[in-house]
Amino acid sequence: MNVEKGYVDEPIEEGIDLREEILRLKKERNAIIMAHFYQREEIQQLADHIGDSLALAQMAAKTDAPVIVLCGVHFMGETAKILSPEKTVIVPDLSAGCSLADSCPADEFEKYVNEHPGHTVISYVNTSAAVKAVTDIVVTSSNAKEIVGSLPEDEKIIFGPDRNLGNYINSITGREMLLWDGACHVHEKFSIEKLLDLKKEHGNAKILVHPECPKPIRLVADKVGSTQALLNFAVEDNSQEFIVCTESGILFEMQRRCPEKTFIPAPPEDGTCACNECEYMKLITLEKLYNSLKFMAPTIEVDKDIAERAVRPIQRMLDISRELGIIK
Ligand code: 13P
Ligand code: SF4
Repeated sequence: MNVEKGYVDEPIEEGIDLREEILRLKKERNAIIMAHFYQREEIQQLADHIGDSLALAQMAAKTDAPVIVLCGVHFMGETAKILSPEKTVIVPDLSAGCSLADSCPADEFEKYVNEHPGHTVISYVNTSAAVKAVTDIVVTSSNAKEIVGSLPEDEKIIFGPDRNLGNYINSITGREMLLWDGACHVHEKFSIEKLLDLKKEHGNAKILVHPECPKPIRLVADKVGSTQALLNFAVEDNSQEFIVCTESGILFEMQRRCPEKTFIPAPPEDGTCACNECEYMKLITLEKLYNSLKFMAPTIEVDKDIAERAVRPIQRMLDISRELGIIK
């Protein structure tokens, strides 16, 4: 079996129905397929569960299935493996990385932490296991505000790696957390000029913004929130039109849940396409998913020592989120 490219690169039998075969293999392997909202439509359609980063972590901690196929990016697979070390965790293409996680190399982050003693270290889930290992509490965009808010007001905090999410939390909580200077290339790419032009064309549309976007974009938002929070808002709000400033994969579930409403993807600055896609998320295809189940590869492995240290801040996030009523 050839996995040199990060995925199983083996020929697929001609004429097979990939969807049917994936479902058959899934049953045979006793596997569960989880997918993030930014995955391709055909992957979301096949998944047993779709969700945001928090939901995926929670499901990975809860599931009885011995095999988890995580259709998302590498750090999501790592988080699942850290929470369920006894399970086989497969990410169908291990080269599905994350520019935000990459903007925070573990050795540099650890040095920064050591240079600022007396600080509680909060890391966004979009980080490597090695960064989580030097973290006190992990957060996602679904719980960051509440978890930071639950800490004593005078607690000194380092927040990494997303400067935009960190800046947003500082602005709404009045905290002065020290921010790591990282960002996601997808969410930084939105253009405020194009967004305002779009708003002129669609005067009644509400603007939905992920907190990984920079401040000028957040300032014109009707709702800032995680992918799940934006989805909930779209479902519950009376408006008929929404301009969506996050990776365009979320539009699939928004449209599925609200077939009568209109969702317009906000365009990126470079203007070459009408929507903004994460090329890492889109690396997972039906072919790779099929081969990953057929060959049970590539699996996620996490160094034992790192995993033992990284599980504590992830577990702490889940415990606090439960205490605060964010998850059940
Ligand atoms: P959420 O799904 O937690 O909102 O995160 C978005 C993201 O960038 C995942 O990579
Ligand atoms: Fe990472 Fe950004 Fe892609 Fe999310 S959208 S996986 S933060 S690069």
